[in-house]
Amino acid sequence: MIITVAHSKGGVGKSTLAWNLANALLQENKKIKIADIDFQQTCYFLNLLAENRFEVLQPQTGAELLEIISNIQDDEHLIIDTGGFDIDINRLAIQKANKVLVPLSESPMDIIGFETFKAILSESNIQINVVLNNVFHSQKDFSSITSILDFNYMKLLDTKIIQRKIYKTVLANGGSVFESNNSKAKKEIKALLNELLKC
Ligand SMILES: Nc1ncnc2c1ncn2[C@@H]1O[C@H](COP(=O)(O)OP(=O)(O)OP(=O)(O)O)[C@@H](O)[C@H]1O
Ligand SMILES: [Mg+2]
Repeated sequence: MIITVAHSKGGVGKSTLAWNLANALLQENKKIKIADIDFQQTCYFLNLLAENRFEVLQPQTGAELLEIISNIQDDEHLIIDTGGFDIDINRLAIQKANKVLVPLSESPMDIIGFETFKAILSESNIQINVVLNNVFHSQKDFSSITSILDFNYMKLLDTKIIQRKIYKTVLANGGSVFESNNSKAKKEIKALLNELLKC
């Protein structure tokens, strides 16, 4: 199972979700690899802080990424964390994924950024799973998001990731929400994983 977390805009929560999803899979004793294809190497450095909890691969070329993908076994999960820009290796990671997860928030900047990303996505025939991230607790109306999604090839996941301080604080020592006692955050990451795997 290849899960690519992608958005051509930076700062939308790709690495946060990739890292926490990998940790959610670990909770279920799954075999996991992470491919960090962002030059910022966020997952690579988080994994160092976490004392090499995962095997984090850093393919530099499309050919290297394809080789990693071709070696993923049926019982393995590969989480690919992409950079917040448009380059060939990111497009490849999207095309080769079994599941593409796109974090999106309601901020006007993210919505503008999503229009650019949509132009890239619409060139391929890939089904995209959009997850709302950085959602305010009290928010009920998501029409500004639903109005920009193209439901021909996009699905808005029911799970919403709330804006929570814990998503930042646990990273300081390479942790995930699963090392915290924040049951709500743990629950929403588990729900995201389950929803993503079954859709
Ligand atoms: N649900 C959330 N609640 C609180 N903070 C969050 C949440 N999601 C992400 N953040 C914070 O937002 C910032 C950007 O997140 P992150 O680095 O995961 O984005 P990114 O899409 O991977 O960015 P880049 O493209 O630069 O790699 C980080 O400081 C992260 O801790
Ligand atoms: Mg990142």
